[in-house]
Amino acid sequence: MAEQLLRVLACGSVDDGKSTLIGRLLHECGAVPDDTMAALARDSRRFGTVADGGLDFALLVDGLAAEREQGVTIDVAYRYFETPRRRFILADAPGHQQYTRNMATGASLADVAVLLVDATKGVLAQTRRHAAIAALMGVREFVLAVNKMDLVGFAAAPFHAASREIRTLLDRLGGAALTAIPVVARDGDNVTRSGTRMAWYDGLTLLGALEAADLPVPRADAPARLPVQVVLRPDAAFRGYGGTLRGGGLAVGDGVVNAGSGTAARIARLVAPEGDRDRAEAGDAVTVVLDREIDISRGDVLAVAPAPEATQQITARIVWMDDTDLFRGRAYLLMLGTASTVATVTDIAGRLDLDRIEDEPARALAANEIGTVTLSLAQPLVCETYAASRALGGFILIDRLTRATVGAGTITRIQPNGRAITWHRLDIDKSARAALKAQRPAVLWFTGLSGAGKSTIANLVEKRLHALGLHTMSLDGDNVRHGLNRDLGFSEADRVENIRRIAEVAKLFVEAGVIVLVSFISPYRAERMMARDRVEAGEFLEIFVDTPVDECRRRDPKGLYKRADAGTLRNFTGVDAPYEAPEAPEIRLRTLAAEPERLAEQVVAELRRRGIVA
Ligand code: ADX
Repeated sequence: MAEQLLRVLACGSVDDGKSTLIGRLLHECGAVPDDTMAALARDSRRFGTVADGGLDFALLVDGLAAEREQGVTIDVAYRYFETPRRRFILADAPGHQQYTRNMATGASLADVAVLLVDATKGVLAQTRRHAAIAALMGVREFVLAVNKMDLVGFAAAPFHAASREIRTLLDRLGGAALTAIPVVARDGDNVTRSGTRMAWYDGLTLLGALEAADLPVPRADAPARLPVQVVLRPDAAFRGYGGTLRGGGLAVGDGVVNAGSGTAARIARLVAPEGDRDRAEAGDAVTVVLDREIDISRGDVLAVAPAPEATQQITARIVWMDDTDLFRGRAYLLMLGTASTVATVTDIAGRLDLDRIEDEPARALAANEIGTVTLSLAQPLVCETYAASRALGGFILIDRLTRATVGAGTITRIQPNGRAITWHRLDIDKSARAALKAQRPAVLWFTGLSGAGKSTIANLVEKRLHALGLHTMSLDGDNVRHGLNRDLGFSEADRVENIRRIAEVAKLFVEAGVIVLVSFISPYRAERMMARDRVEAGEFLEIFVDTPVDECRRRDPKGLYKRADAGTLRNFTGVDAPYEAPEAPEIRLRTLAAEPERLAEQVVAELRRRGIVA
C-alpha cells in the first residue's frame, strides 16, 4: 500500500459540479464498492440528469451526504481513496456561506485545496473567499479545476481568465503554488484521464496534480516544540510531561526550556506508548521526563533553542464565523496549542475586501469576513507567527458564554516582550487606600433597560452609604456620555467600547478604595462579565434593575420609547436593540413589586450581609 498520505480539501460553490467531480474521482480510483455502483446505475436512470444512461456521479456523493444526515454512515465528511502512488483523504467543504466554519477547520488540516469553478460563471466571490481562507489557514498548494468546459465550447479563454484571477489572488495572499486544470466532471475529461477535446491543454489531470503535489515534509530542521497537554504524576518518583511533538526532534540528553518562564533542564527519558525510546520525531505523542524539577503545567511549551517567548499582544488574521460581529473591546477565549487565555480585541486594522484583495478600514467583522486584528491577552502566552509554526501560530476564538467557536486566526506579528509598557508597582496600594477610608471597595453594577430605574435607585443607595460615612462615586451612563464617552453612540460596537471604558474607570475607583456605583444599560452579558473580571472576586455586585419593557415604556421618563416606537430613534434597547438580562445577578430588584426606597434598602442590606457595609 502507498505510504504517502495527502490531505485534500475540496471547495466549491453551489451547482458548480463538485459532487459530480468527487464522485467520478472516487469511482475511477476504485473507491466505490460494486453494489454501490449498481445502485448508482439504477438511480441514474431514474433521477439522473445525464443523458443516454450515463452515470450521474452527483447522485453518488449527494446520496452519501443524505445518508450522513440520517446518521446511517459513520464518516463521510471525509472520503478516502488511493492510487498505487498515494493515499488521499478528501474533505468535502460544502459550498454554502454558513459552512465557512467547516471550511476553515478543513483547511487548517489540509495539504492541498482544490478550488472548483464553473467555466460558464468564472471565479465567484465565494471562490475567492474559500481561496483566501485556505491560504490563511496555511494551505500552500492549490489546484484550480475549471469545470463544465463543454458548456463554453472547450474554449481556452475562460479557463485562462479564471486561472489568472486565482493566480493574482494567491500572490496577494502570500504566493501559494497553483495548478490549473480544465475539466468536464460529467464526462471525465482531465479528471483521472486526459481529455481529447481540449488539444490546447497538455498539463496534468486532476488526479495527476494531486499525485504530484508536494507533501508536507515534517520540518525536521525546525526547532522542537512540545505544547504540554498533561502533567503525569502517577507516583512521587515519576513526573512526566505529555503532548504531541511539533516540528523538529527531541533526544534523551537534549536541553530544553519551559518557554514561558525560561527555566532550563535536560531530557532524562522519552516515554512513548510502547516504552522508552532515545528519540522522538515531529508528530509523535510522547512523554518527557526531565533531569530536574522545574515548574511546568498544562498549556506550557517545552522547547529547544531558539525558544519562543511569551507575549501579551499579538496581531492576527482572523476568519470570523459568528452571526454576532467581532468588535473592538470585546473579549473572547483564545485557545492555542494546549493553552487558553482571555483575549480582548484592541484594534481592527482592516477587513479584507475580497474583490480588490486589500484591507479596507472596518469597525467590526461580520460572519464570513476576514480581517486583521490586534489582541491583548490576559495572561502571557507562548506563541509564534504562523509562518514559523503552524502549531503555535494558529488559534481559535471561543465565545465565553455560549462556548461556540466564533473565529479562527493565524498570528502575523508578535509584540516582543509582551507589551512595551510595564506595570509599575506602587508602594501605596488598594488596601492601603481602602484602610485609610476604613472601608472595603466595591463595584455596584446596576444594569437594566432605559427607564428601569437604575439611576434613581443608585442615587438612593449612594445617599445611604454617604450618610454612613463611606466614600463613594457614581458613574451614570447619561452623564459619562457627556464627557469621557462623548465620542460614542449606540451601535453595538460603541456600546461595547462604552462599557469597556467604564469597567476600567470602575476598576480605578476600586484601586482608590472607593465604593463605585455604575448605572449603565450595559445590555451585553459579555461586557458585564468583562467588567466583573476587572476586579477581584467579591468586589463586584451585579444588580439587575428588573423592570419589564412595557412598564419602562409606560414610564418613559425621557420620551425616548415614544420616539423609538415611532421609528425616529434607532437602535433603542428593548425596542430594536437587544438587552441580555443577567442570569445570576448578585441582587435582583423587581421594581414592579416595591418602591425605590425599599429597593435601595434591599441593596444596603445585601452590602451589610457581605461585610461591605458595617
Ligand atoms: S449602554 O447600552 O451603552 O450601556 P448607556 O447606559 O451608556 O447605554 O446609555 C443609555 C442612555 O442613553 C439611556 O438611558 C438613554 O437616556 C440614552 N439613549 C439614547 N439613545 C439610546 C439608544 N438608542 N438606546 C439606549 N439608550 C439610549
